[in-house]
Amino acid sequence: MSDKDVTEVVAADAAGIARAAQILESGGLVAVPTETVYGLAARADSGNAVAKIYAAKGRPDFNPLIVHVRDLEQALEIADFDERAFDLAARFWPGPLTLVLPLCDNASIASAVTAGLSTIALRQPSHPMMKALLAKLGHPLAAPSANRSEGISPTRPEHVLGSLGSEIPMVLDGGPCERGVESTIIALRAGGGWSLLRPGPITKDSLVRILGTESDDADDMIEAPGQLSRHYSPGKPVRLEAMRAEAGEFLIGFGPVRGDCNLSPAGDLKEAAARLYSCLHEAALSNKRAIAVAPVPHEGVGRAINDRLARAATPPGAGAD
Ligand code: TXA
Ligand code: MG
Repeated sequence: MSDKDVTEVVAADAAGIARAAQILESGGLVAVPTETVYGLAARADSGNAVAKIYAAKGRPDFNPLIVHVRDLEQALEIADFDERAFDLAARFWPGPLTLVLPLCDNASIASAVTAGLSTIALRQPSHPMMKALLAKLGHPLAAPSANRSEGISPTRPEHVLGSLGSEIPMVLDGGPCERGVESTIIALRAGGGWSLLRPGPITKDSLVRILGTESDDADDMIEAPGQLSRHYSPGKPVRLEAMRAEAGEFLIGFGPVRGDCNLSPAGDLKEAAARLYSCLHEAALSNKRAIAVAPVPHEGVGRAINDRLARAATPPGAGAD
């Protein structure tokens, strides 16, 4: 952007969506609301536009991006759907399920989006303002979470500003994200197997009911290259399964473990997911030197919460995104 220091937060009304569409059409970046987290969007058919995402995030170029489509019709121009993929899209789209599928030979997708892989990660988001934006555009949007690589994902416009404020011209303000953790990612394998690549709001149990048990053969393994050990780092030590704060710790509570902020006083996992990143941002910005987090049940969307917490607690070392 030319005026690097001014990031506008624009209400996602018709005028705001039209301006965002204009920036995106001309190859710029816009932070956009989705039902999971805010995304850093660029047109997926432009190598130049997509390069700006990697540069703004400081994201390693071997870590491919998720492409957001307007509808199934647009998805079919990009990836090969088998029966299972059609079934999952019918059940969960628009919504927080990302499908890793074979990329079509003639898809108009910049190669940087898939980091050279022969597969592509696709989802149709359900956030009404993101839907309205995609409906205005003639192309799909590549969008990873709108944070610096390795930072905490954003669920509010101010989180985006805190992380990427000097890098992007506009944040489209769609309010707080309803789900609060990134989409569930699954890979459907040619031989009929499937793998959960990232736990998320669509639970593994619900996928097992539809697809049968996850395959465990190591052959033909598809992995999410960005799912390295470290991610979502708040920049302070994080201690998990804590029942109380020790000296100098900011305690993120759950249920009866009250804490300095609480993921869900009622012990509701959906509410806890929606509040997870806000609490981590608050803890990171506090004057406490460390963070402790109360136990959260490892069931339903609690698996996604614990996955993100384990990553936040991984000390500096390897990692991406
Ligand atoms: O909820 C979400 O999914 C958010 C919102 C903005 O939609 N997006 C998001 O994107 O979380 P990102 O880039 O932070 O995560 C993308 C993940 C990475 O772990 C990447 O490795 C994986 O998707 N991925 C992308 N393409 C892939 C592919 N072809 N095969 C395997 N994994 C892939
Ligand atoms: Mg991310």
